[in-house]
Amino acid sequence: MNKKTVRDVSFQGKRALVRVDFNVPLSDGKVEDNTRILGAIPTLKHILDDGGSLVLMSHLGRPKGKPVPEMSLKPAAECLSDLIGKPVKFVVDCVGEEVKAAVESLKPGEILLLENVRYHEAETAKDESCAAFAKELAQWGDIFVNDAFGSAHRPHASVSGVTEFLQPSVAGFLLEKEIEYLVNATSNPERPFVAVLGGAKVSDKIGVIKELLPKVDALLIGGAMAYTFMASEGKDIGSSLVEEDKLDEASELLIDAEESKQNVMLIPQDHVVAEKLEEGIPSEVVRDIPDGMMALDIGPKTRDAYCDWIKKAKTVIWNGPMGVFEIPPFHEGTEAVAQALADSESLSIIGGGDSVSAINKLGFAGKVTHISTGGGASLELLEGKELPGLTSLTDRD
Ligand code: 3PG
Repeated sequence: MNKKTVRDVSFQGKRALVRVDFNVPLSDGKVEDNTRILGAIPTLKHILDDGGSLVLMSHLGRPKGKPVPEMSLKPAAECLSDLIGKPVKFVVDCVGEEVKAAVESLKPGEILLLENVRYHEAETAKDESCAAFAKELAQWGDIFVNDAFGSAHRPHASVSGVTEFLQPSVAGFLLEKEIEYLVNATSNPERPFVAVLGGAKVSDKIGVIKELLPKVDALLIGGAMAYTFMASEGKDIGSSLVEEDKLDEASELLIDAEESKQNVMLIPQDHVVAEKLEEGIPSEVVRDIPDGMMALDIGPKTRDAYCDWIKKAKTVIWNGPMGVFEIPPFHEGTEAVAQALADSESLSIIGGGDSVSAINKLGFAGKVTHISTGGGASLELLEGKELPGLTSLTDRD
């Protein structure tokens, strides 16, 4: 990575303004999944050990520019305090006099978390108010650190805006690690290189499929988006989901894969279908989807074929479930892929909320190489797009 990182600067006696991604699920006022908070700990400890203090900022949810109590970061402050073993101070805004006083009284070794930056419209605004807000935020630090990989694709005030007003702006360990895994795996993969892509909407993944298809040995498609590909070949898909406006692009991709002898693209050859999506509803395995039936998971033949590819792969990227895995009996395809990855020795990178929760739910987190903390950000990186949260950081000399 050609950007400065926390290793390149001294934090001795300095206040680090750190953008973290504490956009975490909450339940009953408590953090339900602390993965993203845990992910930031190495950077935070490094700065504290180096003699700095921490002013942390993040968003949580999409409160649309006004305070929404259910989207407060206060539970994240409590969770961080438990994980890092130190008190974490919290202020109820991210700009203004109260914040100024809290920031100025901060001593080396202390941590302050600011309230949700998205309580202010300017955080995500596309006009000059965004820069003005970024300038206000920038005054809270001597050095800016971006460790919010999950938000690196957002050109927002607290992500890239502050870098206009605060230098040096450097990457944290989490941001660095995510970029290295995702970029290295795709630019110079050990082969066979297999990508498993699923999820509901082909429109979310079409850019990634286009970018990855020429690089992979096999691209395995599952999830509801597979049915847009099947429909584009004129196959019957019953009442399965289809994105009509993506049929042409889906067809072109299948033709590209057909013509290339190196880049195999597989779509499901059998399916678990039901009349509707409902827990415990009678389901059957079919090759051809009958009228009135909806495909909700890949079938056993497809599972076996996909798992065979995963077994022989040396590098695997997985993003998106194979079926509606949270509603039995449509969980088996996703679980089979997760199991094959857990059993394999390959370099495995998992991204996207649903695949990550499937891996976590099955207790396989320790058996895969890297679990990405970024959904949209990892997809944009795989698509080859520039991430504002990365490009805005200070270049290495
Ligand atoms: C995420 O959860 O993907 C990131 O925190 C970004 O959130 P956003 O999609 O609301 O910008």
